[in-house]
Amino acid sequence: MNSFKLDISTKIYFGTGEFSRVKTAVKGLGKKAMIVIGQGSVKKHGYLDKLINYLNDEGINSEVFEGIEPNPRSKTINKAGKQANKSKVDFLIALGGGSVMDASKGIAIVAKSGNDVWDYCSVRGKKTKRPDSALPIVAIPTLAATGSEINGGSVITNPDTKQKAVIHNNKVVPVAAIIDPELTLTVPNNYLVDGAVDIICHSIETYISTKIDNTIPDFMTMSLVRTVKNAVDTIKEDSKNLRAREDLCWASSLAMIGLFSGRSGGWPIHEIEHAISGIYDVSHGLGLTWLLPAMLRYNTPHNGDRLLRLLSFMMHENTNHYDDMIDAISDLTKWLEDVGALRSLVNSGIEDLDIDAVSQATIDVYGNADGYIHGIEPMGFKNIKELLVDAFN
Ligand code: NZQ
Ligand code: ZN
Repeated sequence: MNSFKLDISTKIYFGTGEFSRVKTAVKGLGKKAMIVIGQGSVKKHGYLDKLINYLNDEGINSEVFEGIEPNPRSKTINKAGKQANKSKVDFLIALGGGSVMDASKGIAIVAKSGNDVWDYCSVRGKKTKRPDSALPIVAIPTLAATGSEINGGSVITNPDTKQKAVIHNNKVVPVAAIIDPELTLTVPNNYLVDGAVDIICHSIETYISTKIDNTIPDFMTMSLVRTVKNAVDTIKEDSKNLRAREDLCWASSLAMIGLFSGRSGGWPIHEIEHAISGIYDVSHGLGLTWLLPAMLRYNTPHNGDRLLRLLSFMMHENTNHYDDMIDAISDLTKWLEDVGALRSLVNSGIEDLDIDAVSQATIDVYGNADGYIHGIEPMGFKNIKELLVDAFN
C-alpha cells in the first residue's frame, strides 16, 4: 500500500429519523447560523421549516441563503459569502445535495477572507490561494451522491470561463454531518440514479486506474459497488424502501471518507466529467454515466483481469461471472439504461458535444505541466479525445 495520512474529523450522526440530532450537533457553534439551500426542494418538502424549528428550540437565530445552483457557480458563492460576513453568522448549515454542501465550503472561506472563491480553486497554471480560516459547517445531505458531508472537497463552476475546479482543504471539512436517509425519499429518480453512479465511480475510479491488487481497498470497492447496485434495484421496485436508502446514504459517505487510501490511481473519469458539466451544465452523475463504459473499454488492455473481477462482483456477486469484458461492459450498460441512468445527449439538452473542447478543457484545469492527466497511463489530449469519441459516437 502507499503511505497515507487520514484525518476523519467530522462527527457523523447517521440514521433514519435522526434529523433532529442537528440540535446536538450545533451546540457550541454560536448563536447565529446561515442555512444554505438550493433551488427550493427543501422548502417544498418541509425540511427547511423543520430545521428552523430545531434551531429555534436551541435558541439559535438563522437566516436562509436560497438559490445555490446544481453545479454551483462562483458568483453565487461570493454573494452568499459576503452576506454571511455582513450578517456576522457564526456558522453555516448546508441543507441539500452535493452542490449545496460544496457551495457552503466556498461560502465559509469567502465569509472569512472577502476574496473571490475562484482564487481558491485549483486550475492548471493559476496560482491557488489556501484559506487561512473558514466558518464551521454542519452538513445535512438530502441526496446520496458526493460524500461532500464528510470531506474537504468542493467543486465549483466559474460561469465566465465555464471551468469546473476543485478546492481541497481540511479547513472546510464539515464539523458535523447529519445523515438521515428519510430526507432522500423525495429525490426524483434521475438524481437518485445519477447519485448512485457517482458513488460507484468514487468507489471504482482508483481501482480502474491501478494495475496492482490492494487487498483492503479492493475488497471495500467490491462491497460498495455491489451494495449500491442492490440498493438501486430495490428502490426501483419499492421506492419507499428505507433499508436500501440507508445503504445508499452510507455508501455515499464511505466512498469518500478515505477507505481507498493506500491505493494509488488517478481520477480521470471525474476530471473529464467536470469538463463536460462545466461546459454543458449537466448533472455530474449523468456525465459519469456517459464516460464509464468507455473508460472501462479504454483500460481493458491494461487492467482486464481486475476489471473482470470488479464487474462480475458488482453485477452478479461472483468474481468469476464474466469471461470477457465485452459481455461485462454490455451488461453494465444495459443496467444503466434499465434504471434510467443512461439518458441521451439530446434529451439532456446537448445537440452536439464538442469533443475537442471537452478534451482541452480537461487539460486546462487538471493537466500537469506537460499537459497530461493521471490515468492508468498518463492521458494527454489525444487519449482523452479517443475515449470521448468512443463514449459519444
Ligand atoms: O436545488 P434543489 O431544489 O435542492 O434540488 C436538487 C437539485 O435539483 C435536487 N435534490 C436534492 N435533494 C433532494 C432534491 N430533490 C428532492 N428531494 C431531495 N431530498 O437534486 C438536484 C441535484 O442536486 P445536486 O446537489 O446538484 O446533486 P449532487 O449531490 O449530485 O451534487 C453534484 C455536485 O457535487 C459535485 C459535482 O461536481 C456537482 O457539482 N461533486 C462534489 C464532490 C465532493 N465535494 O466531494 C465529489 C463529486 O465527485 C462531485 O464532483
Ligand atoms: Zn463524483
